[in-house]
Amino acid sequence: MIVAIDGPAGTGKSTVAKIIAEKLNITFLNSGSFYRGITLGLLRDKIDLNNEEKILEYAENLDLDYVNEHLILNGEDVNHLLHQDIISEHSSPISAIVELRNIVNKKLRKITEKQSVVCEGRDITTVVFPNAEYKFYLDATSEVRAKRRFNQGVSDLSFEEIKAAIEKRDEIDKNKKVGALKIAEDATYIDTSLLTIDEVCEIIIGKIHL
Ligand code: DC
Repeated sequence: MIVAIDGPAGTGKSTVAKIIAEKLNITFLNSGSFYRGITLGLLRDKIDLNNEEKILEYAENLDLDYVNEHLILNGEDVNHLLHQDIISEHSSPISAIVELRNIVNKKLRKITEKQSVVCEGRDITTVVFPNAEYKFYLDATSEVRAKRRFNQGVSDLSFEEIKAAIEKRDEIDKNKKVGALKIAEDATYIDTSLLTIDEVCEIIIGKIHL
């Protein structure tokens, strides 16, 4: 079974997907962590981020794995390093590279060959798993999303800077040539602006019939 969840940054997708996966006793698959992991590798190895060819060559040979819901880069669990501002900033343009998306999508599909998942991202309901049994699109205003990120206390940026960064990423994510963020026709749309995480989970669980 695949439960697919898409939506822009800061809508609570990861938190919600994790809770739903726990409730259903299946795997939480965070697709953004693959783009973030590749970005971390590129930065660590000082690959020119303007050179698509180099980026692709690098990504193709990168040892990237997903074990116990954590991203493993060259054998190292790097999950705790993936939400630094610098990774958030660079992962968005890097994820716009079409061939790089194919590399990530192949890895995501491979994981679901053996297990049921709750997978969240930007193009999960539309491109990666268009035949997913359950599809959801989580949304919220950029004001609310920036407030949530700010309150998490994981960023060094001010509220206004976070809001601007979120809007910049939205712009890139919605205008990608392939895998752009959009609402699948058959997805349940949930505006989370005024909802708690528990309320969002309740709506999603209410739609899933086991
Ligand atoms: O969900 P996230 O913020 O961790 O994702 C990090 C970046 O990766 C984000 O800028 C968009 C991109 N991404 C994507 O293009 N497609 C996905 N399925 C997931 C994430």
